[in-house]
Parts: sequence; C-alpha cells; structure tokens
Amino acid sequence: METSNNSLDRRAFFSLVGTSVGAIILTQCLSGCSAPADTVTPSGSTEGGTNTGGKINLVLNLNESANTKLKQNGGFIYQNGLIIARTKDGGFLAVAQACTHQGTSVQYDATSNRLHCPDHGSNFKNDGSVINGPATSPLKAFKVSFDANTNILKVTE
Ligand code: FES
Repeated sequence: METSNNSLDRRAFFSLVGTSVGAIILTQCLSGCSAPADTVTPSGSTEGGTNTGGKINLVLNLNESANTKLKQNGGFIYQNGLIIARTKDGGFLAVAQACTHQGTSVQYDATSNRLHCPDHGSNFKNDGSVINGPATSPLKAFKVSFDANTNILKVTE
C-alpha cells in the first residue's frame, strides 16, 4: 500500500518537473526569438548602403517607396538605427534614433523643428544636442549630403 503511494508520488513529481522544465525552455525560446518593441529592422531601402564594422554608410534613393517621406519637409524615416529627417526648411538630418534616456525612438517634429522623445518628453536640437531632459546625453549625429539631381541622400559617420 505504501509502495503504491510512493510510486504515485514519484509519478506526480516527475510530471511536475517535466512541466516546469518545458515551461522554462518555452519561455527562454520565446524571449530569445522576439525583438524588443523599439527595435527597428532595416527595411532594405538603402541602395548600396552598408553598415559594416559599426560604420554607417547609407545611400538612400528618395524615389524608392520606403524613402519617399523624405521628399516632403517634415518627413522622417528610421533606417539602420538612425532617424533621418527632412527638416521643415528642406534640409536633412541624421542622428541615432534611440533616446539617450531609455532608448525610445525619437521623432522629428516639424512644428518645433526639433527631435522629440514621446516617452518622457526629452527634446533634442537637430544636431542631436539636448534641449531638455530627462535625457542628459546627446544623440549621435551623422553627416548627410543630398544630390537633388539624382535624389540620392548619403549618410555617413
Ligand atoms: S526614453 Fe526618451 S525621455 Fe525617456
């Protein structure tokens, strides 16, 4: 009688262990397979752009559908971890898109002509420097050059 109970207890024990291990493996797999909410996957809209060795070297054709927002003043896109915007006066800017406070993607606000973080309200000048926090560090800025004849925008470090 007692042996039977021990056997049942062992079965229940191993069943619980098996379920727990399965749940842990499933949790690890799901967390490892999903991307953070703020991660932006490059859209492949670059033309000959590279991002090797941590160096940005993008060539964006504004005639491509993924980049057409940059044809209008105030438009912006995210590409390779950068926000690239056409300012309200028709110029271009490219800075790191992740807010230096907690990593939320910043947005270009044409009305105020600055970069704004929608999470906690940090604002940055178009060169990436901080206007107000809570962020205290600037957004890394990149060089931009535009050829209006070809509609090609180059972004480099
Ligand atoms: S994440 Fe940008 S202000 Fe907090």
